[in-house]
Amino acid sequence: MDYKQIISDLINIEGTSKEEIYSLLSFPKDSSMGDYCLPCFKFAKTLRKSPIQIAQDIQATISVGGVIESVEAVSGYVNFKLNKVELAKQVLQDIDNEKEMYGSSKIGEGKTVCIDFSSVNIAKPFHMGHMLNTAIGSALYKLYKYLGYNVVGINHLGDWGTQFGKLIVAYKKWGNKEDIEKRGVKGLLDIYVRFHKEAESDPTLDDEARAWFKKIEDNNEEAINLWQWFKEITLKEVDKVYKRLNVTFDSYNGESFYNDKMESVLDELRQKGLLVESEGAQIVKFKDEDKMPPCLLVRSDGATLYATRDLAAAFYRKKTYNFDKCLYVVAYQQNLHFKQWFKVVEMMGYDWYKDLYHVAHGMVSLEDGALSTREGHVVFLEDVLNTSKEKALKVIEEKNPNLPNKEEVAEQVGVGAVMFGMLYNSRIKDITFSYDKVLSFEGETGPYVQYTYARCNSLIEKCGLVQGEIDYKGIDNEDAADVIIVLDRFKDTLLDAANKNEPYIISRYAIELAQAFNKFYFNCNIANEEQGIKNSRLLLTNAVKQVLKNALNLIGIATPNKM
Ligand code: ARG
Repeated sequence: MDYKQIISDLINIEGTSKEEIYSLLSFPKDSSMGDYCLPCFKFAKTLRKSPIQIAQDIQATISVGGVIESVEAVSGYVNFKLNKVELAKQVLQDIDNEKEMYGSSKIGEGKTVCIDFSSVNIAKPFHMGHMLNTAIGSALYKLYKYLGYNVVGINHLGDWGTQFGKLIVAYKKWGNKEDIEKRGVKGLLDIYVRFHKEAESDPTLDDEARAWFKKIEDNNEEAINLWQWFKEITLKEVDKVYKRLNVTFDSYNGESFYNDKMESVLDELRQKGLLVESEGAQIVKFKDEDKMPPCLLVRSDGATLYATRDLAAAFYRKKTYNFDKCLYVVAYQQNLHFKQWFKVVEMMGYDWYKDLYHVAHGMVSLEDGALSTREGHVVFLEDVLNTSKEKALKVIEEKNPNLPNKEEVAEQVGVGAVMFGMLYNSRIKDITFSYDKVLSFEGETGPYVQYTYARCNSLIEKCGLVQGEIDYKGIDNEDAADVIIVLDRFKDTLLDAANKNEPYIISRYAIELAQAFNKFYFNCNIANEEQGIKNSRLLLTNAVKQVLKNALNLIGIATPNKM
């Protein structure tokens, strides 16, 4: 049911299209004012009347009836109240029909979105910063799919650079194959840290490292095998984490994949007169008004850079996927990097530079100090997930000691809590991670929403399915109406989240729905009512259960039936 459509059909404004009216309809700040409102400020200029007058004029032309319960003009807004029972019937019917597709859309049909996210670095720890990145990227991935887009998830691995030369030297000098096979990235990190310590007093190590990196570049068998092995070890480990987080990718083409794809881009830049020499290096200069330092693409020793590979990757993606949008989920520290090379694409004359988006996000720190330092005090995501799971298990053991699949539920709650904690705020905000905060069953958390879901489920189990007549009086009250209005907003919420590339809009929605439902649940009895009333309330409970599931699915959070 599209209430905005129904309302916009009722409104006629000279010189304004129905589409525009539709897009202007929004939700009043205070829900007691109405369910939808139309702000009239925009029309003042064309109609040469005050917004107050315009709102009154519009109100006068609309007759109430059907789903429209009342229309009121208040200080430049037209507020619409909907007939709660009519609305409820239709919303509940829709959810019952569409089930796990309720809220989905076909808006993206025929369009392709590439999402570059997670993009971990080989032989480096998968730490909490990547968790935020992975959570945002994966939520966007699922969201765009749900809206009908063809989505390509790309893990642009950091698998190239001089550090691999260092790692080979370190491995050959101090490495132990079994230890590294057993301890994985932690083992690699140890020898890497040792390399940096020893290189302080022995600079020849750096020369050796450069020589080994050169061997990787020249396809030397031993060098390539070791480099491959580092990749395998890292990917095996991150894949375990991706499984726990329910995250998938369509491509793992990382930086090294573009080794043979940069030259053609550089050639084109040269032909277009954009690539210039500067102190032996090759750079693209920007205009003064761009206020950016030049983009360095080839170093004086001939080596290409991170930006060179990103440029080549963009052309490859455009050619391979012909994307309508390409998103880069990357921390805001790289703002300049993306601004620079996006500009280079624009200067080359490609209009699709407009379709490149840096979806920037903040940083994550732990409550008790820094997350990662050069000395190797790194908090591995896997350890965070394990701790979170253990803590969840403790709570479950206190609250529900007889739960049969405690371990499984603890995993779902522990991992879900971390995930939700990452997606609770606008992505640009820095996060101070706290176990107590994300695991609280009472705050605005993952466990709180999961708990509400389990509550819906238990209610339905206890009371049985809807049987016989439904008496909608059971949901003709403020609390139920508040739930219905939130349920009805789900689709708009998802479109808004995709428009802004902001998964937190879905998390906040889940909280809002859970809170509205819990208020209803505490104020309206379900189990002991007569059948007709009970039925309407069960129908509502079932709908909330479904929509909570749909929302949590999108942000990668499991929904245990009991907890
Ligand atoms: N591996 C990089 C890092 O951890 C992120 C890569 C992001 N993607 C890209 N196409 N630049 O900083």
